[in-house]
Amino acid sequence: MESIITNPVTSATAPTATSTVRVNTIGYVAFDTPDVERLTEYYTSALGFTLVDGDGRSAYLSADGSNHAVVLNQADEARARARVGYRVDGSLDDAATRLTRAGYQVERRTDVSPTETTVLALAEPQTGMPIHLYDSSVEIARPGTDAVAPTKLGHVAAYVPSLDAMQSFYEELLGFQWSDTIGDFFVFMRCNTDHHAANFMKSDKYSGMHHVAYEMRDLTHLQNMLDHLASREVRLEWGPGRHGPGHNIFTYHRDPDGNVIELFTQLDVMDDATGNYEPRPWHDGVLQYPRTWEADLKAQNSWGPGNPAMRDR
Ligand SMILES: [Fe+2]
Repeated sequence: MESIITNPVTSATAPTATSTVRVNTIGYVAFDTPDVERLTEYYTSALGFTLVDGDGRSAYLSADGSNHAVVLNQADEARARARVGYRVDGSLDDAATRLTRAGYQVERRTDVSPTETTVLALAEPQTGMPIHLYDSSVEIARPGTDAVAPTKLGHVAAYVPSLDAMQSFYEELLGFQWSDTIGDFFVFMRCNTDHHAANFMKSDKYSGMHHVAYEMRDLTHLQNMLDHLASREVRLEWGPGRHGPGHNIFTYHRDPDGNVIELFTQLDVMDDATGNYEPRPWHDGVLQYPRTWEADLKAQNSWGPGNPAMRDR
């Protein structure tokens, strides 16, 4: 592992507004898997991703025809959300300086992917998961090849011991904004106008990834994907339904490693000029803005039914 910048933390200071790095997009999510070939087959043949690079022990997969959105790495055991990459505004040097001044140890790496030539790596609080920050300008356009493929990686949800600490980290250090909360246990955050790119469920029992979500262009695109999955004997575990926070139409199934995969469309879009989500017919005529939802069926699935496999927390 190449390390150009090493910042032993000698005097951690509280993050300040001026120390905020501005994430603008969720770029990729990595999975450790005992069978790269099997999971690559699922991503390419079932979900329609394009394999853009790989060597048998790793695979880089693109959803939208640009840079990879999914990374698979050979490992003894499956591990979802092994790391997450975010694109940031501004220079990586500035980001490294700001994060270091805020007391975080940052490492500059050039060996993590075939397309992101340089990333800043830091550990997510509580989980220790590596977060990779990289410059938006390095994106290389590639032609899309499969009509059923999702348009992009939408969000990654994870179990965490404390919502407040995680929300503070993402808001104060990475420039995310609060979108919604369900009860006192599920928070949603955004880094652009999409309702959420990162969400966290408080849990004393579970850790790791809750689910990963890929966006479909519209209902027809989602339907075509579901028919395609059905032809491959891939069955849904929940949905279609419509979530409360974000109002996305969702479906959930599992990949061959057992990871929960959401395919969604019609996610709420923030109007930054007003602080409200753009009005939609399914908003019940009520202006939508960031708020705390009651933990009821409406929040889970306004169409009903509830998640049959809903875990306790
Ligand atoms: Fe989701």
